[in-house]
Amino acid sequence: MSNDIYMEFILENYRNPKNYGVMDNPTVKKSGANPLCGDDITIYLKIENGKIQDIRFTGKGCAISQASASILTEMVKGKDLEYVKSLGENDLLSALGIELSPARLKCALLSYKVLKDALSGF
Ligand code: FES
Repeated sequence: MSNDIYMEFILENYRNPKNYGVMDNPTVKKSGANPLCGDDITIYLKIENGKIQDIRFTGKGCAISQASASILTEMVKGKDLEYVKSLGENDLLSALGIELSPARLKCALLSYKVLKDALSGF
């Protein structure tokens, strides 16, 4: 796919984020911010039977950070914890599909870092 198509995919996830919103009674809730800009993401997880049964996020920030959170939630929803814990930064980056500068990498990986933090006790 060309960069334009990936950019469209990112903008679409920014405009209409998947799994956006607060979750009542999550198993775990974690927040994190990008120290460079202060933008933040909060992730809510419902974990049952070794699976991420449901996931939501809220936050504010640039298109890359918010779109990447949306894309990440779709990648892990309904999946086994073991699988999700095995996901690396590059799995999310390749789903985004565009070349990113180091500053933009921090944007793209904000949700990933918050998710890893949320799962650290599991
Ligand atoms: Fe703040 Fe991208 S500019 S997360």
